[in-house]
Amino acid sequence: MTSAARAPHRRVACVWWDERVAVDTPPLPRTPLVIDTDPGIDDALALLLAVASPEVDLKLVTTVHGNVDLDQTTDNALRVLHLAGRSDVPVAVGAATSLVVPQTARAGHVHGAAGLGGVVLPPSPAAVDPRPAVVALAELLLTSHEPVTVAAIGPLTNIALLLAVYPDAAARIGRLVVMGGSASRGGNVTAAAEFNVWADPEAAAVVFRAGLPTVMVGLDVTLPTVLTEAGIARFAAAGPVGAQAAAVLAQYLDHARTAYGTDGVVVHDALALTEAIAPGTLHTVRRDVVVDTGPGAARGQTLVDRRTSSVAPDAVEVAEGVDSDAAVEFLVSRLAAFGHGAAGQQLR
Ligand code: BDR
Ligand code: CA
Repeated sequence: MTSAARAPHRRVACVWWDERVAVDTPPLPRTPLVIDTDPGIDDALALLLAVASPEVDLKLVTTVHGNVDLDQTTDNALRVLHLAGRSDVPVAVGAATSLVVPQTARAGHVHGAAGLGGVVLPPSPAAVDPRPAVVALAELLLTSHEPVTVAAIGPLTNIALLLAVYPDAAARIGRLVVMGGSASRGGNVTAAAEFNVWADPEAAAVVFRAGLPTVMVGLDVTLPTVLTEAGIARFAAAGPVGAQAAAVLAQYLDHARTAYGTDGVVVHDALALTEAIAPGTLHTVRRDVVVDTGPGAARGQTLVDRRTSSVAPDAVEVAEGVDSDAAVEFLVSRLAAFGHGAAGQQLR
């Protein structure tokens, strides 16, 4: 047999082997994920991280007021998903204001007036989902065959509304990972309150006592987890998505240098997403959590009972320990994995 005659046989064998591998390898189980968000620079990183993570299947993004006004958070969510190559992910519009007392100030001084650090990302070709956020969320929860993880990384207004309007749907949440609150480090907006809880304390009070399988990812674990300039440079060099993410972070980095003297940024929401993507990343302790909804100086404080762990059915898993180096490496390597091209499509 000539080598020319043998060649096609080798190619066939190779194809047969590849196909057998493809058939025999079970698909990676992927957890359905919803992100409730107010982009926001760290929200934008969190969205990119979710798209870059094969462990989760981003089914829905719901928007909420918070860092900037609702119209802006919604437009930002659409643009970030488009950047990530995932403008197919539905974006449903949520609450424009808090349940009881309108938020007194946005966070333009941290995130930029338009929420993305002064960077104008290309507009998305996608329109918003016609359903209100709580309707879209309820429909997904009620029809999903798998438990759905909800990552709430803005004020908790939408989640409180879901509990009020669709309690049966809310009861089907597999895990609720909340970026918000503080057990031991005081606040970042006031001496007592973390931003997301401060923005709608009445909503947070309802959510933290709802008896959902909730993980509270607060300032205790986010503040020590600093994304350095070196880490940003790694994903900036990896391709256009990482480069845009780095551009969005530039103003945030300036703010951190001035406000905290740190040579890096605290990307709160991305750490919460890491716990949503890889459960157990953070060390948690089951605690009773009460939110101060009074009018005084402690409004928006999360009162976490750290005297003992709790067995109460409405207790919350409070994140109290983090391997910050590992968490930052996870974020940087996932964002670098976008590489070149329509990364969101490649990574699916
Ligand atoms: C939280 O407040 C917002 O400004 C950030 O996006 C994050 O969700 C941190 O306190
Ligand atoms: Ca946020």
